[in-house]
Amino acid sequence: MDFSAIRKVRDVEVAGQRVLMRVDFNVPLKNGVITDDTRIRAALPTIKDVLARGGRLVLMSHLGRPKDKPEPAYSLEPVAARLAEILDVGEVTLTDSCVGDGARRVVLDLRDGQVAMLENVRFHAGETKNDEKFSRELASLGEIYVNDAFGTAHRAHASTHGVTRFLHTKAAGQLLEKEVEALGRLLGKVERPYVAVLGGAKVSDKISIIENLMSRVDVLVIGGAMANTFVKAAGGSVGKSLVEDDRLPLARDLMARAEERKVKILLPKDAVVADGPDATETAIVASNAVPAGRMSLDIGPASIAEFRDILSRAGTVFWNGPMGMFEKKPFAEGTLSVAKAIAGSAAFSVVGGGDSVAAVTEAKLEHGFDHVSTGGGASLEFLEGKILPGIEALLP
Ligand code: 3PG
Repeated sequence: MDFSAIRKVRDVEVAGQRVLMRVDFNVPLKNGVITDDTRIRAALPTIKDVLARGGRLVLMSHLGRPKDKPEPAYSLEPVAARLAEILDVGEVTLTDSCVGDGARRVVLDLRDGQVAMLENVRFHAGETKNDEKFSRELASLGEIYVNDAFGTAHRAHASTHGVTRFLHTKAAGQLLEKEVEALGRLLGKVERPYVAVLGGAKVSDKISIIENLMSRVDVLVIGGAMANTFVKAAGGSVGKSLVEDDRLPLARDLMARAEERKVKILLPKDAVVADGPDATETAIVASNAVPAGRMSLDIGPASIAEFRDILSRAGTVFWNGPMGMFEKKPFAEGTLSVAKAIAGSAAFSVVGGGDSVAAVTEAKLEHGFDHVSTGGGASLEFLEGKILPGIEALLP
């Protein structure tokens, strides 16, 4: 797909026009309070640019996965309040619903350089069904459509896909552009060695990306619980660690294919084990000799040293997925060390995926990365080589 064929919002005259902009403000909330506003801040360059040029900005987003009807826990109210704070405007009006008379009134009242936000688009079944009538209703709220929601670009929903059929002018926002540029670099000619670090719980979530990266990378570093499946497939004992037994043949096949292609798969040598995720008493053992009754919850010091060494010599790094149960302090070291090693390397580095990005931001290491993707599923699907429907829909 030729991204350069897509119009960019900076090339669109927005003054006096209603700009209907899809953003991904699906932010984590705890008791109604936003715990990480990275996604809101990531959309600011486009928001500020449109407002500065006199656009009348109508933002739309989903939040969570409500069941096709209004659910107060998924209201965008805290998001509108946070945006008002960040933009230093008294209030960002939130419509009662993303369609209907209330929304229309708010949108028609907007003056040049003002912003309003539509309530959660997933409060309506038409959103995820990519329904034509619903898409038309959304489209009627603007004259120009902008998509800056990279994190949702892998969804063919009304606000990311259907709506584009009913608006004459459509364009990509600056965040979308930046994401495509950085992730696209990982699919092109890269500085070598090219190292991909994959972690997280399940091999099954990462099959396609492993397959696609296999033809590009030099080293595939595997950590997290998904490493257990590979260790067991190679004949190791993993105690009561999380394992996908039905994926053992697949893990064997992936290892054989890597060998054929001369791609090095690096598994953890050692592991931090405990009786369970809530245990505080831990031990270090060889990752292929985890005693019965114990489970591997993080990579051990020898693995950290080896991964660090590979990463320090890398030319390009992509990282997705934690090395262990990093949300629990006794098992956070592996993920943190990998984050530090990548941040400290001279490689072109990209991190994607909710958990690994959370680890990077928590440790305030974002500046050590060339790109911190706002996409979890979207960044993986992009690197799997898929054409994302939200981006494709912007083509003229
Ligand atoms: C995400 O958080 O990955 C995006 O906002 C998409 O959310 P979804 O998986 O609920 O579609």
